[in-house]
Amino acid sequence: MVTNIPFVVFDSPEAACRQVASEIAQLIRERSSRGRQTVLGLATGSTPLPLYKELVRLHQEEGLSFKNVTSFNLDEYLGLNRNHPESYWTFMHRNLFDHVDILPENIQIPSGELADDQIETHCAEYEARIRKAGGIDFQILGIGRTGHIGFNEPGTPIEAKTQKIHLDELTRRDAAPSFGGIENVPTEAITMGCGTILKARRIALLAWGSKKASIVREAIEGVITDQVSASFLQTHPAATFFLDREAAADLHGVARRAS
Ligand code: PGA
Repeated sequence: MVTNIPFVVFDSPEAACRQVASEIAQLIRERSSRGRQTVLGLATGSTPLPLYKELVRLHQEEGLSFKNVTSFNLDEYLGLNRNHPESYWTFMHRNLFDHVDILPENIQIPSGELADDQIETHCAEYEARIRKAGGIDFQILGIGRTGHIGFNEPGTPIEAKTQKIHLDELTRRDAAPSFGGIENVPTEAITMGCGTILKARRIALLAWGSKKASIVREAIEGVITDQVSASFLQTHPAATFFLDREAAADLHGVARRAS
């Protein structure tokens, strides 16, 4: 059975995140030593939480500095004030930015507070800011049960740029518990496009738990299709899936154990 995207299987999300964090730390240190910024593409959701915990630990205990880091988040719910408890602005500050020395002016998150006539310009400016920063060096991704990366729901073309999207019902249902009911979950979001994501020089997709097993298999072993945005990663030269045993359970390919 052909495996179209390299993947590594770990005993726990924490073990996987130690490896991803160590790769990120090495990149930041190497670029900083040459006076260069490192541009990180960041994800939200429950999946990257152990990664952010490990990055905070590396900052607090091992002196990893984020002063030379610029970050671009993948997405934000439309219609949420940045101070809303479920906004991705709040999420990122609570789980990472408030605990490291990243400069506030180097943090970029799409705005969820846009009038209809501001959306196109905001999205074009977000793309331009990524380009001006030199492109994304290291992109973190989760995967939704619809196969979305960022919020690129089924039907989003491979070349899509940052844009407004309608959230899939399954995505909204999965978000319902944190919002106290599906009726409170926004219906739209701003997301980096598949094309934006695929330009990143290195991509690490993280997935944990049995609920992700079938979509992980479709992304890695299925056909490349706009019905599963994550399958577009098969076209990327440096994308790796970091999985726990449960998320890898449906793969036919031989799982390579992390050392
Ligand atoms: P989760 O969401 O990390 O909360 O599972 C992943 C995603 O929707 O991309």
